[in-house]
Amino acid sequence: MSRLYVIDEMISAKAIAARIEELAKLIEAEYEGTEKLVVIGLLRGSFIFIADLVRELDLPVEVDFLEVSSYGDAMESSREVRILKDLRGQIEGRDVLVVEDIVDTGHTLSRTTEYLLARHPAKLKTIALLDKPSRREVDFKADWIGFEIPDEFVVGYGIDYAQHNRNLPYIGKVRFTE
Ligand code: PRP
Ligand code: MN
Ligand code: MG
Repeated sequence: MSRLYVIDEMISAKAIAARIEELAKLIEAEYEGTEKLVVIGLLRGSFIFIADLVRELDLPVEVDFLEVSSYGDAMESSREVRILKDLRGQIEGRDVLVVEDIVDTGHTLSRTTEYLLARHPAKLKTIALLDKPSRREVDFKADWIGFEIPDEFVVGYGIDYAQHNRNLPYIGKVRFTE
């Protein structure tokens, strides 16, 4: 489990911030005139992205969280998406944006989206900072993506490797040295 590795920077903090400004404008246009947008972060990976994104959004916003997990401490998806903590608020008839750090196999966001749609929000859209389309196992596409990336194991900006490295301010790729 504890293989040695180094982390190479892949997407800088500056590039992430610039992309979030662009994404915020697209989201503002999509939800223009909303009474209130419920922005839902999927814990734990999205906690930094959602914090930066909502601060760029010039819309009335409510923040809620759903804790879901499929990887645990493993490097590979269990393909079983477990809801560990549910939302605090109601979303029926409301405008919703689901915020995720990365779409890999697609199981987490596709399952979560189905779960939330069953509550009949007025509108539900999804955004993920990173997308790894080459790894997809289910047909799922987020409405907005920050960056498309190759099949590398990435960490930082909320994303962990066995719960480590979530606090890196940039996205890095893990390179095993043994
Ligand atoms: C990671 C990541 C996404 C999901 C993407 O979460 O944060 O939520 O996996 O993978 P998928 O598209 O293959 O489902 P994880 O289960 O590691 O939980 P965490 O967010 O608490 O780290
Ligand atoms: Mn996650
Ligand atoms: Mg994880």
